[in-house]
Amino acid sequence: MNTYKANSKNIKKAAHIIKAGGLVAFPTETVYGLGADGLNPIAVAKIFEVKKRPSFNPLILHISDKSWLKKLTTVKREKIDLLIKKFWPGPLTLVLPKTELVPEIVTSGNPTVAVRMPNHPVALQLIETSKRPIAAPSANRFGHLSPTEASHVSKYLGDKVDMILDGGKSSVGVESTILQFYEDNFYLLRHGGLSKEEIENEVGKIKTGTMNEQKPNSPGQLPFHYSPHTPLKFFNKKLLDEKKKIGAIFLRQNKLDFPFAKIKLLSEQADLREAAANLFSFLHDLEKENLDLIIVEKIEETGLGRAIMDRLKKAVKQHE
Ligand code: TXA
Ligand code: MG
Repeated sequence: MNTYKANSKNIKKAAHIIKAGGLVAFPTETVYGLGADGLNPIAVAKIFEVKKRPSFNPLILHISDKSWLKKLTTVKREKIDLLIKKFWPGPLTLVLPKTELVPEIVTSGNPTVAVRMPNHPVALQLIETSKRPIAAPSANRFGHLSPTEASHVSKYLGDKVDMILDGGKSSVGVESTILQFYEDNFYLLRHGGLSKEEIENEVGKIKTGTMNEQKPNSPGQLPFHYSPHTPLKFFNKKLLDEKKKIGAIFLRQNKLDFPFAKIKLLSEQADLREAAANLFSFLHDLEKENLDLIIVEKIEETGLGRAIMDRLKKAVKQHE
């Protein structure tokens, strides 16, 4: 059993695990989270591996101190300060433009990042002791219910996480409300523990955005998912035209005799965690190179390979 009572000693131990790149399930007032160092892309890749999500979904960064908001996001608005003053710590997640510090895998390549300060002493102490934001989705496997007790977590993810901190039952029991600030408007992306009315009491009328938990890539009115501008295609010999400026992404090595303008290797050890951690930042890097085309090698669809291929297939499809 790796479930431990959430006392100071065990929280310290959990913070060590987070700092070392491990996974810790911890209580928040909404639901239990599956946490990893939010600034370490490989640690974050482990979250996707364990959740067995067939695709990437951007994660919430949990903070214990408002000063982190300045480091993670660029927005400075009175209306946001108002919400933070009133509702943090609490079940309100804010989606704001991200800074360079936030790894691409946390946001699944989105230019925005979701941040929240949970209202639970164990979560706050864990984040504080870890000295970094903790990336955490709800600690359930894909398709299962969100856990509100440590035993729910151990049932589904018990042997997959390094430690589960038992802090009793989550008092709110539903996930946080997600609010995006975009072009001076607020959009409610997910209903949750804080009601729309309570938010509107503070900042006036807000709009309801579109977000589908199962299909986060579904195109809504919001700039939700990252889509590459340069055409992206899976490798096919016919695509190799020397008159074109072509970039290539391979898993571990360049297998082709062609003068590529840029080559990226996702993981020289063919480690899918490393590959996942690099994927979005490589796509961004290549995008800046003014290429005519990016070709990418297909990856075996096992473990994280499924999520990587899902992302790539979607990106390829946009240019068909
Ligand atoms: O109460 C909660 O929010 C819990 C606890 C653990 O904090 N966490 C949680 O995380 O529910 P998760 O990953 O299960 O749901 C987070 C939702 C996802 O649907 C994700 O798509 C959305 O937040 N999200 C994260 N970053 C986003 C972004 N940059 N833009 C839009 N939506 C985002
Ligand atoms: Mg969830």
